[in-house]
Amino acid sequence: MTTSVLIFGASGLMMGHLLPHIQQRHGSDFTWTAYVRPGSKGIAFLKSINVNIIEGSWDDKEKISNLVNKYDIVWDSGDSHDPSLPNVIVPALLNGQRTTTLVRFSGTGNWITPTGGNDDESARLYDDSNEGDIRSIHGEMFNGAGDLLALEALDKGVNVWILCTGGVYGQRPAGVSSAGVFVRLYTNNALQLGYTPYIGNGGGHMQLLHIQDLLSAFDLFWAQVLSSIDSNGPVPKDVSERYLFAPGYSVEWKSIAETWSKLFKDNFQLDLSVKNVPVEEAGFVSPLIVSEMKAKPTRLEKLGWKLAGPSIEEELPLILPSGSQLPLA
Ligand SMILES: NC(=O)c1ccc[n+]([C@@H]2O[C@H](COP(=O)([O-])OP(=O)(O)OC[C@H]3O[C@@H](n4cnc5c(N)ncnc54)[C@H](OP(=O)(O)O)[C@@H]3O)[C@@H](O)[C@H]2O)c1
Repeated sequence: MTTSVLIFGASGLMMGHLLPHIQQRHGSDFTWTAYVRPGSKGIAFLKSINVNIIEGSWDDKEKISNLVNKYDIVWDSGDSHDPSLPNVIVPALLNGQRTTTLVRFSGTGNWITPTGGNDDESARLYDDSNEGDIRSIHGEMFNGAGDLLALEALDKGVNVWILCTGGVYGQRPAGVSSAGVFVRLYTNNALQLGYTPYIGNGGGHMQLLHIQDLLSAFDLFWAQVLSSIDSNGPVPKDVSERYLFAPGYSVEWKSIAETWSKLFKDNFQLDLSVKNVPVEEAGFVSPLIVSEMKAKPTRLEKLGWKLAGPSIEEELPLILPSGSQLPLA
């Protein structure tokens, strides 16, 4: 029997890498369907890898509600910051037989402490093996509103799994137009400002994850998802066993500002200098730039997860080569 999967966000950077990866590893174990915006640029790519397409808007609640219970797995990889999609998916799953598994991507933007942009060892460390840390999620966190809905579904008997990643970076597969959420936000923020900002001493950290390390984290995560669907597999009860961190490595915000400034100069002949600014002048990414991000992936580390991908300094010039269209769509 094949497992049917319905994906939201299938045309994005992460799924653009993950779908071919899973297909290579699991052959014909799955049938794939993507719910995409009408006319999505990703349709040709998805069709080329045998993904069925349903075109529709996230506003079409009835259409989505009528779909989700027909699949073995519903995978929310759309926009973890925006709760509008889980706001439709979760009530529909709760109205159904609760036989559909919900998989969601979230982000370590949840696990930050404002430090004025400075490094601060006393900033709170969040650890995914600590149930209290997962239960501390609230609606004001970056991805908190959608996460809370997913956790509500879990508490009401839906088989829910969440992988919470750091800012993901990597080259775009042919046919995938998105550079991913983090690279898009940081690049467009700097272009809008005309400089690459840091706050305080710039020693606050962001956690970043190369696509190669996302794939290795995902394999460990996915094995657990599949085991929970298999009726003979162990089904964890503790919420922290179902909400796994994959943050990547820590990079200082000043170093990120330098990396992007160099990229703009070398690949686009744009002079966006590194600038030390107050939080009000750091643009829409300022809540991250003013903070220390500290997420510890104890669950995946215990399973042997190790980082091996290239750094953002090495990879960024290849992600946005000269001639890339800016700002990023
Ligand atoms: N990349 C990161 O740094 C990062 C870090 C942590 C968490 N995440 C989360 O992981 C997931 C995947 O990230 P990603 O970087 O691969 O995303 P992405 O490249 O931005 O792609 C997401 C896809 O979702 C669809 N989408 C997004 N907003 C939509 C909307 N309002 N209405 C309809 N469709 C919409 C779009 O597909 P169509 O145009 O085909 O419909 C888009 O290609 C997201 O939930 C993201 O928030 C990402």
